[in-house]
Order: sequence, then structure tokens, then C-alpha cells
Amino acid sequence: MRLMIVTQDFPPETGGIQTYTLSHATHLVKWCSWVGVICPNKTGSSDLDPALNFPVFRLKSRNELLAFSLLTNLRPVLRDHPVDAVFHSQWQTAGASIRAREAGLVGKVFVAAHIRELLFNPYKHIPGLSRLFHKYRQWVLDHADHLYPVSDYTAGRLEELGVEPSRITVVINGTDPQKFYPEDASEIRKKLGIEHKKVLLTITRLVKRKGIDTVLEALQTVLNQVPDVHYLVVGEGADKMRLQQIVREQDLEEHVTFAGRVPYQEINRYYNAGDLFVMPSRTQEPDIEGFGIVFLEANACGLPVIGSDSGGIPSAIEDGVTGYIIPEGNPAELAGKILSLLSDPELAEKFGRQGR
Ligand code: GDD
Repeated sequence: MRLMIVTQDFPPETGGIQTYTLSHATHLVKWCSWVGVICPNKTGSSDLDPALNFPVFRLKSRNELLAFSLLTNLRPVLRDHPVDAVFHSQWQTAGASIRAREAGLVGKVFVAAHIRELLFNPYKHIPGLSRLFHKYRQWVLDHADHLYPVSDYTAGRLEELGVEPSRITVVINGTDPQKFYPEDASEIRKKLGIEHKKVLLTITRLVKRKGIDTVLEALQTVLNQVPDVHYLVVGEGADKMRLQQIVREQDLEEHVTFAGRVPYQEINRYYNAGDLFVMPSRTQEPDIEGFGIVFLEANACGLPVIGSDSGGIPSAIEDGVTGYIIPEGNPAELAGKILSLLSDPELAEKFGRQGR
């Protein structure tokens, strides 16, 4: 099969859909006779793209406006590079492919579903536009040949939107154990001044729903019993200043490090700088955790993980096998589970090994 993948979000930017699309394209090359990716142009693209094992067609467009750009730009790319199917990482961009299928330019149109992009309506305060937007979403969901949610939770939300189960196949997110693996991270630990600490780690875009503030709330309880604990937060995002403010207010400066965005080449070492991965996400409709690829990446590095029961996280963590699932928004429960793993290195090692 010849396959075109279309995505609003792609490296060099970081985030879940970026990781998802890059991994799918990289690995589908082995199963398809040809794979290409269409996505927005970004600073740094020209360094990244030549190193990939598939061609990337960059369109001059803002991420959220790619659907409009495709109305004129998809067909010329498909004429030069005919494909059997187009796979969309977000439903928003699928309209142009559905029209191209009607014109006989492509056989099938497939659509992934994570969660936030499925539920988020940028026009919710403008009634007319909001109705149009929902109408367009329904039309795409009704006309796509097949839908691929990343967790059982997301599949359930698709069904709530009227998609018949026969048109849905859950494809649980994965990660690449060749890219994420245990390695010595003593240099990073030294650089960050946390060589002799027990390190709690979160790697994510810094947005409210990720529950980093819940970890900060739990931290004092943990420190009371294990004073050499340090919390390392990797990633950038709109919530950073608020989180830093909480750290100052709670007098936690010497126990918390915000390392910022880390380049792709270094991300594995940062995972390995942690002893225990935590991300107790909260449900803030439409901002919900669709799955949590970061739990798999941490597990692949041999770390045990703790997440919440929010959204699709139960598809990412096997409770009591690869880590723990706690009720969302519950710092006391989180502190308890952190302490139980820090005080039982054998169990922590076992969860990490089973996770990998
Ligand atoms: N190199 C690097 N540097 N990578 C980063 C950084 C960084 O500073 N911050 C985050 N990432 C990468 C992680 O390694 C992971 O691969 C991805 O970005 C996850 O980003 P998140 O912020 O945690 O996820 P999301 O909310 O964008 O992703 C959504 O879609 C995913 C794919 O289906 C969510 O719904 C996730 O739950 C879902 O798994």
C-alpha cells in the first residue's frame, strides 16, 4: 500500500501527536511500499527532514489552519505522489481527503483520534461558527473509512459522537524500545546537581491538565519521610510560570528543577535521570489525557510509573505491574504510592523491568 500521512503537529515541535505521527511514519515504511508525510513548515525542519526514512511535504501554514491549506495543496501532492490511502493524525484535516476520494484520487481515508483535538471547539463562544464546526466534525466522522483511537477511553468518546463500533479499531499507542532504553545518566544528574537524590520525574508539555501541581502538593509529605527526594520537570508550556510560582510559595525551590525543553537527542538520558516517573493528569474537558505515551517511554527506560485514572491513562499503565494508577486530583494517595515505591527499590525495579 502507498500511504500519505497528514498531520498538523510534527517534529521538530514536541508533543504527543508529534511523537505519534513520527513513530507511525517511521515504522509504517516497513509495511507499506511508500509513505509520505504532509505537515506545516517549521523552523528547524530543513535539519530534521533529510534524516528521516520517508519524504516530508511541508506546507506554509499555521498548524490549526492546515485544513484550509490542504483544500488547494493536497491534490497537487497526490497527483505527483499517488497513494491508496491517506491517514490523518487529526480529524480536522480530513475534509480535503474525503473530497479527493470522491474525485477518485485516493481509495481510503483513515482518521486517528487522541482526545483533546477530538473534543476541542475553538469557536465555542461564536454560536454560528461553533455549529458549523461541529457539523464539519460530524461530516468527517461519518465519511472517514475507518477511525483509529489511541485508547479505549477515546474509542468510547467516538461512539458517544455517533461513530458505529464497526468503524473503530483501537490501536493502543506504543513506543520504540530502541529509542528509549536504560542508559547511564550520571552526567545529567551531575549537571543538574541531583547526583545523590531520589529523583521523581515528569516529562511533558507544561499544561494544566498534566497534574504537576498535584505532585507539588504531594511533595512536602514525601520530603517529610524521604528528605533526599528531588522533583525534575522536563518540558515547556503555558503553565510553567504558575507552577514556578507554586514552588516559590511552598518554599520548594531547592527540591524542584524545571529543566525546560530538552532536544530529541537528549531525551532518553533525561528519562534515565529519574528513579520514578509521575504524571497524575486531571480531566478538564475538553483537555483530557488521551493515553500518555510518556508512561511507555519511561517504562522503556526501566522506570516505574505513577499516573491517574484520568482519560486513557488506564490503557497506558498496568496497575500493580508497570506502576500504579491513583484517583485523579488526590495528592495524599499520590504521596503514599511514591513513598511505597521509594521505600521498596526491589518493587520499583520490578515494575520498571515489567514495563520495559
Ligand atoms: N524531546 C522532547 N523534549 N520531547 C518532549 C518534551 C521535551 O522537552 N516534552 C514532551 N516531549 C515528548 C515526550 O517525550 C512524548 O513523546 C510527547 O512529547 C508527549 O507529550 P505530552 O505533552 O505528554 O502529550 P500530549 O498531551 O501532547 O499528547 C496527546 O496525544 C498523545 C498521543 O496520542 C495526549 O492525548 C497523550 O495522552 C497521547 O498519548
